[in-house]
Amino acid sequence: MKKITGFILLLLFVTSCSSDDSDMISIDNPEISLNIPSGFPELNAFVNENKPTKYGVELGEKLFSEKRFSADNTISCSSCHIQENAFSDHNPKAIGIEGRVGLRNTPSIQNLAFMKFYNWDGSKLQLENQPLVPIITHEEMDSSILEVIGKIKDDAVYKDLFRKAFGDENITPDRIYKSIAQFEYTLISADSKYDKVKRNEASFSENELKGYQTFQQKCASCHATELFTDQSFRNIGFPINTDTNEAGRGRVTGIPADFMSFRVPTLRNIEYTAPYGSFGQFATLRSVLDYFDNGVLDADNLDPIFKNNDKRIPLNEEEKENLITFMKTLSDHKFSGN
Ligand code: HEC
Ligand code: HEC
Repeated sequence: MKKITGFILLLLFVTSCSSDDSDMISIDNPEISLNIPSGFPELNAFVNENKPTKYGVELGEKLFSEKRFSADNTISCSSCHIQENAFSDHNPKAIGIEGRVGLRNTPSIQNLAFMKFYNWDGSKLQLENQPLVPIITHEEMDSSILEVIGKIKDDAVYKDLFRKAFGDENITPDRIYKSIAQFEYTLISADSKYDKVKRNEASFSENELKGYQTFQQKCASCHATELFTDQSFRNIGFPINTDTNEAGRGRVTGIPADFMSFRVPTLRNIEYTAPYGSFGQFATLRSVLDYFDNGVLDADNLDPIFKNNDKRIPLNEEEKENLITFMKTLSDHKFSGN
């Protein structure tokens, strides 16, 4: 850790010298230590190559709300990733520039520092490689990174922040991606009632406990670990997105066994992220549970947990209500500001 700070200071020294000696003010840009909740899986290895710093995160947070990222200056990352929805939104499918409708539902942004795969189909393995996608996607921001840099490069506030975060005023694509990723790494949600119960700071009500027990029997094989996802890709027979661009994980791997498989989504803050499913097929948690109970669509690659159980998860009325009550204990009020 010391070595890296030293390296940054050295860089700062070198660049300051070469441009203008009067710039040679040392900038205190300490690393921000991530508060890693107990029981969470290991950090994604890329986090160590781009450790969040005070000003890196501040810059990333500002860029996250920058509407000049879009061709007509109307859409920022936070137009779709809204804090009170755990950084998702309320649209079935994402809506970008000029009201254009995208392919998929906007996922929440939380605990991504602990994830190995990003997006519904796991197409990205590193957060630093992700922000370019929405910037250039026709249905999202429909711009380019050079266009974005052109718009913000003379902004004094940005110049100052890039200098504080990276040692000089240069606004580069790499620095934009890194600072946004640093901000995202700090978005850790682990202060829900569920977490408090785990830490012996609170206890479940009778119905929450019953819901938790049903959850462990019928859901936790996939919605596993403290992230509430085992990060596997599965086809669980949800109603199919008929857009010809959709193939789920199959879009990434090209193999039939992955057709319409999706990354098991986290259930943290699920109360705030309706509608549900990869293209918002379900308006409510109740409708997801009714669907499991009534039976899912068959497919050659339907997950064995469904295939071997009559293509359904049977749930009675009481179980459904208690499961929903339990899932609401995963709401982190501090994180979402609700
Ligand atoms: C128009 C709405 C929209 C905008 C604008 C947008 N996103 Fe997204 N974001 C989405 C959708 C939809 C997905 C899922 C994409 C997929 O699965 O193919 C996504 C996925 C992500 C993910 C992966 C989350 C996960 O759970 O794996 C991250 C991180 C992310 N976006 C960050 C950003 C950043 C940073 C920006 C701004 C540069 C941005 N998004 C702009 C809609 C949007
Ligand atoms: C075989 C693995 C598996 C089991 C068992 C399972 N799920 Fe899921 N769950 C998934 C996958 C995969 C998705 C995403 C599917 C998609 O969008 O096509 C999902 C989606 C969901 C969603 C929507 C989440 C969102 O953000 O859109 C909810 C809610 C949910 N599951 C709750 C449950 C509950 C409650 C149970 C137990 C009754 C359960 N699941 C059992 C794998 C599973």
